[in-house]
Amino acid sequence: MNPFPLKSVLTLLLTGALAMGTAHLAFADDDDDDDDDERGREKSSLFESRQALAPAVNATYSQECGSCHMAYPPGLLPPQAWAQIMTPEALANHYGDDASLSEELRTEISTFLGANAANVMLQMVPSGASNAGAASSLPRITESVDFKREHDEIPARLVTGNPEVGSFSQCNACHRKAAEGNYDERWIDIPGHGPWKD
Ligand code: HEC
Ligand code: HEC
Repeated sequence: MNPFPLKSVLTLLLTGALAMGTAHLAFADDDDDDDDDERGREKSSLFESRQALAPAVNATYSQECGSCHMAYPPGLLPPQAWAQIMTPEALANHYGDDASLSEELRTEISTFLGANAANVMLQMVPSGASNAGAASSLPRITESVDFKREHDEIPARLVTGNPEVGSFSQCNACHRKAAEGNYDERWIDIPGHGPWKD
């Protein structure tokens, strides 16, 4: 079996090109005509990168990892973080839940996540600072500095205090087009609150 189907290689290249741009590295053959992302380089974060936010295209991943929460965009965590999440031990104690998989599914999903992961180190908010007493030490998208920066003005009563949301991990509770990789403000609708105007 070919371990690198063309589609994965392309996705990998695209993700890589963008992530490398974010990390201020030159990418000579970048013919991406998305000027906004290019110009935004100085202050650009993963959360402004359309590639990083692209929805998952692997059916197994979407099915197995999209039942309790949305199947997160693989480009929002670096490969080491996905690898940590995908060990059998971690899956058995998955943020307080049991998300164990057969070895076959675990391998398929791990490979997919690794190939489509972010190409940058995500800076994490030190655990304890905002997440005091959390039982799990697994990495979180929602504990990254980039995520916090985007979401720091949203009061807790609309999130953890909101039974229709529960936590920031439920991206699609507020981002109505998250499944399509669209997090644009115009599609934000916080349950019980409505659109977001800042
Ligand atoms: C049995 C339910 C369940 C399944 C299946 C499941 N998860 Fe989770 N996952 C959770 C819970 C619960 C949380 C914590 C959510 C919270 O804090 O509100 C979580 C959190 C996460 C987070 C951190 C989200 C954040 O806050 O940044 C990631 C990443 C994640 N899961 C990935 C996966 C992957 C990959 C799979 C498939 C292998 C998977 N999940 C399958 C229940 C599940
Ligand atoms: C409680 C509702 C809520 C949840 C849950 C939530 N977000 Fe957001 N998100 C917002 C709001 C509101 C903004 C706009 C913040 C602002 O402009 O000050 C935002 C902004 C963003 C942006 C920037 C959009 C842009 O065009 O500037 C991205 C990307 C994003 N969120 C991704 C995520 C991801 C990924 C998750 C899940 C891991 C998530 N969000 C969970 C409410 C939420």
